[in-house]
Amino acid sequence: MVLSVLLQCGILFCVCVVVFTIIFMIYIRLSEERFNVKCKCTPRLDGKTVLLTGGSSGIGLETARNLARRGPRLIITCVNEKAAKAAAEDLIATTGNKDIHYRQLDLSSFDNVQNFVKDFNESFDKLHILVNNAGISNADNTLTKDGIENTMQVNHVAPALLTLLLLPKLDASKPSRIVAVSSKACKYADFTLKDLNSAYYIGRSLSSWKRYANSKLCGLLWTKALSRRLPEGITTNALHPGIISTKIYVSEKCNPVIKSLFLFVLGKLFKTTEEGAQTSIHSCVSPHLEGVSGQYLSECEVSKTVPAFEDFEYTEEIWKATRSLIVSRLTNDTDLS
Ligand SMILES: NC(=O)c1ccc[n+]([C@@H]2O[C@H](COP(=O)([O-])OP(=O)(O)OC[C@H]3O[C@@H](n4cnc5c(N)ncnc54)[C@H](OP(=O)(O)O)[C@@H]3O)[C@@H](O)[C@H]2O)c1
Repeated sequence: MVLSVLLQCGILFCVCVVVFTIIFMIYIRLSEERFNVKCKCTPRLDGKTVLLTGGSSGIGLETARNLARRGPRLIITCVNEKAAKAAAEDLIATTGNKDIHYRQLDLSSFDNVQNFVKDFNESFDKLHILVNNAGISNADNTLTKDGIENTMQVNHVAPALLTLLLLPKLDASKPSRIVAVSSKACKYADFTLKDLNSAYYIGRSLSSWKRYANSKLCGLLWTKALSRRLPEGITTNALHPGIISTKIYVSEKCNPVIKSLFLFVLGKLFKTTEEGAQTSIHSCVSPHLEGVSGQYLSECEVSKTVPAFEDFEYTEEIWKATRSLIVSRLTNDTDLS
């Protein structure tokens, strides 16, 4: 008898959680997202070289597909080399562009980033568009072997290192663009500068959502500071792609049934990956963005984001803290100037 009441209460509780989650998602969809926004820009990219990180799935794959149709040499990266190869073959088959390449890149390792850049520089003579798209959100609160909190390294510190190491190539290929796939999640950040210091960060035991928001905030503010330092001819902008049902939302440890159900509901309510790629595509090709730098885009237009984005002192502090963190972890005398 008691067991049956407990079981009924448990089922009722689960139903309430599911209903509440769906109502909350509908609210977010209606209040935060616009429908059917498309990048209408037609420029082709023949003769250009584009590097896109995290091109094996989700928003990255669809961004890559659209850019590939415009005729550039396109290099996609991801952690899993097999997945990268499969994605490159899929892109060649669906776009007819045969100049598509793949490379393994693991942003959770500075050594890997440096080796990647060395190989990239030897293999490709130009770089016109760099899309820092790769990211994670459900990682455990652990340190990478570089001693940095995992999400912060993959989403912010390593893309910063990658960008700095590729600057000479971008400079030699001007006009060139650096596109940072950020997230509206940065407005939920719970961040102090000390959080770039891994020991402190691990001590705080923040949720994966907060650590994601913090990493996206740092990446966004770092982009603003980068825009002040770039030579004429190189621009950088950050963007929010929207909410899209991708594997970034679910932990590998998640129950497969819950995972599929969650992604199914998310997929029905929110943007498709093709829609989610539109602002990235726009940032890469829009003629209206020529010479536009240090901006934040959402729904294919320049938009407002967190107040910290316009805070000169704070963005400079993020720049300096990120730089010293990178320098302190590099084991060789890599030139970051
Ligand atoms: N989905 C959304 O609603 C949403 C909203 C706002 C912002 N974003 C941003 O959009 C970007 C793309 O996310 P998505 O939703 O398309 O997710 P996704 O499907 O999970 O794609 C993430 C990509 O990043 C790569 N990646 C993961 N860990 C990496 C590492 N350590 N080093 C290098 N690459 C790594 C993955 O490669 P593997 O497959 O080999 O792991 C994959 O190609 C992310 O920056 C994310 O923060 C997404």
